Amino acid sequence: MKLIKLDAIDSTNDFLKGLSNNQSIENFTVVTAESQTKGKGQMGSVWVSEKGKNLTMSVLVNDYLSDISAVFDINIAVSISIIQVLKDLHIPKLSIKWPNDIMSYNKKIGGILIENSIKSNGTIHSIVGIGLNINQTDFTNLPKASSLAKICSTTFDKEKILLMIVEKLKQNIQFWNVNAISMWAKYSDNLFKKGIPMTFLDKNEKYFMGIIQGVSTIGKLEVLLENDSVSDFDIKEIQMLY
Ligand code: BTN
Repeated sequence: MKLIKLDAIDSTNDFLKGLSNNQSIENFTVVTAESQTKGKGQMGSVWVSEKGKNLTMSVLVNDYLSDISAVFDINIAVSISIIQVLKDLHIPKLSIKWPNDIMSYNKKIGGILIENSIKSNGTIHSIVGIGLNINQTDFTNLPKASSLAKICSTTFDKEKILLMIVEKLKQNIQFWNVNAISMWAKYSDNLFKKGIPMTFLDKNEKYFMGIIQGVSTIGKLEVLLENDSVSDFDIKEIQMLY
């Protein structure tokens, strides 16, 4: 595995994207940074992480998606790989808040940002960005965030966790065709608040009650509504209030 360690960069995703656009680089090349000046989160948000304390990493996954419509597969492979590693580290009460926030108890401890691009020869390259809060313990003004250290009251070796994640991701991707069904099942089993009545906010700022049932084949969230129908939502259409 090729590992590029940076001290500071705007975003490890953007750095790896630039690198892979300009030269052919090895599959599963990893870029890490001690700090990011423009860390990117889902839906145009900013990813903030205390310098040197956490994992901010990007992994290049070349030509794994058979077709762009299978885009949620890679979300699942990455989320489950992280959950498996954190389970091995005995982190308690793990779940995946749809689509890919990594939770422990009610707190977000990690996020994933996957950026796919189709090359001129038709192959799809994915930049898998992972932000995992490891040793940061001060989350002032971030009441819904936490870290492994805060939850377990001990510090962790972030390099070791990085290697564990990349190894698990490689395995899960290599054996995807054999394991796809069980991976989707694991993802569904680990969904945050699945089966529990909760309040949501729709895109018109309207509150409604619903119960998460699972995800559809294209990765939309399936919610049972009060009128007993099930509706599918994409990420821009719904917000979970918890
Ligand atoms: C989210 O909003 O939950 C996704 C956060 C993803 C953050 C990671 S940190 C490493 C990589 N580089 C980025 O700019 N973002 C991702």
